[in-house]
Amino acid sequence: MPYDTVMTEHKVKFLPSGRIVLVQDGETISQAARKAGVHINASCGGSGLCGKCRVLLESGTIEGGKSEKLTEQDYASGIRQACLSDIKSDLVIRIPQESVLDTGVLDTAVPVRHKAGMYVFDIEQLKEEGIFASPVDKLFLELSRPSSTYSIADAGRLIKGLADQYDERGMVVELQVLRRLRRILREDDFRVTVTLSRSVRRRFRTRVVNIQAGNWTYRNFGLAVDIGTTTVYGQLLDLNTGQVLAEAGDYNAQMSYGEDVISRIIQAERPGGLGLMQSLVVSTINGIIEKLLDSCGVSRDEISSITLAGNTTMTHLFLGLEPHNIRRSPYVPVSTFFPPIRARDDLGLDLERHAVALVFPAVSSYVGGDIVAGIMGSGMYRTDAQTLLIDIGTNAEIVIGNREWLACAACSAGPAFEGGGITHGMRVSSGAIEDFSLNPQSLEPMNITIGNKSPKGICGSGLLIIVATLFEHGIIDQQGKFIV
Ligand code: FES
Repeated sequence: MPYDTVMTEHKVKFLPSGRIVLVQDGETISQAARKAGVHINASCGGSGLCGKCRVLLESGTIEGGKSEKLTEQDYASGIRQACLSDIKSDLVIRIPQESVLDTGVLDTAVPVRHKAGMYVFDIEQLKEEGIFASPVDKLFLELSRPSSTYSIADAGRLIKGLADQYDERGMVVELQVLRRLRRILREDDFRVTVTLSRSVRRRFRTRVVNIQAGNWTYRNFGLAVDIGTTTVYGQLLDLNTGQVLAEAGDYNAQMSYGEDVISRIIQAERPGGLGLMQSLVVSTINGIIEKLLDSCGVSRDEISSITLAGNTTMTHLFLGLEPHNIRRSPYVPVSTFFPPIRARDDLGLDLERHAVALVFPAVSSYVGGDIVAGIMGSGMYRTDAQTLLIDIGTNAEIVIGNREWLACAACSAGPAFEGGGITHGMRVSSGAIEDFSLNPQSLEPMNITIGNKSPKGICGSGLLIIVATLFEHGIIDQQGKFIV
């Protein structure tokens, strides 16, 4: 490389985390933060429009860093917009509290008054009714030992055992099972547990994806993951009992690239962007898997399946499918149906090789697998009563109907509620007003904030409650206008 093209590197330290990262001259503070794994709010995806990516320059030199979103006073006090700040020297950057993602709130228990009634299905009853077929089963087999009169190959012995003892036919034994088959069969005198992965469609064959010596059918666990645009939640379940053993959540690491699905699609359309978006959400899910396994006595190799649901864009990014046409008329996704997938080898999830990933199907570009999961989970598609299901996330969906018919509408809700177009809007974070009431006589307001901190802004639920309360007290009218 010629001498004059050698790039200058700068060291950027982020406070309060203390993380340090090396960056090239001219990279932005937002890019440095992503490299360091430091989250900064970025509602507009780094186009300089939202003004949410405020950081404090404690030392060093940058170029730019200001738009009309910052006042002269802000600028004089060292505040800069991270996405507009080109790094020109070693820096020390402090992330102000309002720019940080507060993961603590994800573990906050839901207050009792906010909990809805939950109907818990009886899995056995659903199986009997033919409504539910487990996609992954563990079966215990006792096979006869090889002898001079019964000397078929080990794989044939296994397949015959499944047919004789469980009427399971047309199996495919995966190569990684064949590689261990000889040893495992003989470890406990031809008593083995096999894990079967069933195809969602009947005409595809069931695969033998794992084999263990002895009877391990009582240790069968699965993961359920909700891939939200903003947050990702996971549960670890005992697949024999349906019991939830652990729960954990985290912010979707894609957030640094914009808060709504359109910004993420735009990022995915850039060179290398799709791979980056995929690896970010996979890293978030892997972090959640780690937390779930740490919190209960289940080992990684006991996880047979992971079931994931997300809106259509999140599902595309997770699977590495090009989401480009989801944002362009006539809004066509790559696919709405996804086959069972090898969780580790095909997706990079931190699970053992036999774990199967099942992804909820979508209906269209803006009616995704998350709402399909909600319809399935609530059971509204099986009732005579008309039921309304509302899922308000960063993307909001409303479904109404019953066993005869279902209609759905969707729109972007997070940016609307959490600051995109509201001066004092903010995400759920400490200091966000989440509850509100008025003294009926004096109209004195009472703000309840997350973490009981002094108010910094209003989150989505706070906004709804404030508007409802103002309407109830006749302060605003049906159009939302103040009554003077
Ligand atoms: S202004 Fe920087 S992310 Fe929006």
